[in-house]
Amino acid sequence: MAVIEIENLTKDYEIGFFKKRRVRALDDLTLAVDQGEIFGFLGPNGAGKTTTIKLLMRLIYPTSGRARILGRDINDISMHQLIGYLPEQPYFYDYLTARELLEYCAELFGMRREARRKRAEELLRLVGLEEKSWTKQLRRLSKGMTQRVGLAQALVNDPEVVFLDEPMSGLDPIGRREVRDIIQSLRERGTTVFLCSHILADIEVLCDRAAVMRGGRLAHLGTLEELRGREADGSMEITIAASDPRSVISAFTSLANSRVEQTPGGARIEVKSEDQVDEAIRLARGAGGRLVSVQPVGGGLENLFVRDEAEPSEQ
Ligand SMILES: Nc1ncnc2c1ncn2[C@@H]1O[C@H](COP(=O)(O)OP(=O)(O)OP(=O)(O)O)[C@@H](O)[C@H]1O
Ligand SMILES: [Mg+2]
Repeated sequence: MAVIEIENLTKDYEIGFFKKRRVRALDDLTLAVDQGEIFGFLGPNGAGKTTTIKLLMRLIYPTSGRARILGRDINDISMHQLIGYLPEQPYFYDYLTARELLEYCAELFGMRREARRKRAEELLRLVGLEEKSWTKQLRRLSKGMTQRVGLAQALVNDPEVVFLDEPMSGLDPIGRREVRDIIQSLRERGTTVFLCSHILADIEVLCDRAAVMRGGRLAHLGTLEELRGREADGSMEITIAASDPRSVISAFTSLANSRVEQTPGGARIEVKSEDQVDEAIRLARGAGGRLVSVQPVGGGLENLFVRDEAEPSEQ
């Protein structure tokens, strides 16, 4: 069942002193996201991702088109009881503490005092904010800590659908891993997650399906497998660490259809097909190398980003 249904959604921003010029930031987007899906919404800077989320959250209004969330029109604000939203650049009341902010949000959802306290604590633990920071004013928190509070805030009402606009931004590697785990746990509870991110590694491990936006238009849509497959030609890249890279390189003279080059700490080998990977690893190990990574060449999601990038058109 689709819980987010977007139909022909279009947004022109009016710019300039007299608002005479129009910039099309989103162009005729049609998309449906199913219940329980973790849906990746990708695209380079300026592709229209935040614009789409803001339209869905009713922070800005569409030029044309419409959308429904949980079967209700986005203009039906009662639906906001059931959803959560982490903005791209969250601005909170700076003088509240993290704990006060969450209790305040819980109050907006009509929770009683005791329940509010409990919920705030639960969430602060969930997002991994250290207890000593709970009572600090938000303006004194670091970017990553603020981001964690923002995520907690999006989950106050145990939402059925959550919209996360760049939830990993500003987080250190441990923070990113923790946020990934939180998103995974949302999947286990059946929450639908609409996830905007540039960090393809996160999208790769989290998402069931993804859309790639480009210049305000939907450029690709599919399962991660489909999106990866679209660009891959079967070649694989193997990275090897070695204290003596030259012996690894000379070991490869015998392997047909391979390309080897030296890197600062070892070697990088490209083979034409997945079948050759085992043989290549065996050769590298025999020459004293250690396997660092194996990945498809050009098969990652990156290529979907770089092909025919377009700017949004001026009307
Ligand atoms: N308030 C605004 N007024 C005028 N133009 C805007 C406004 N907000 C966004 N735009 C333009 O709309 C286009 C889409 O912007 P949007 O913020 O949706 O991109 P995005 O995909 O979220 O990018 P990023 O990855 O950088 O967050 C951009 O060209 C941007 O300059
Ligand atoms: Mg954005």
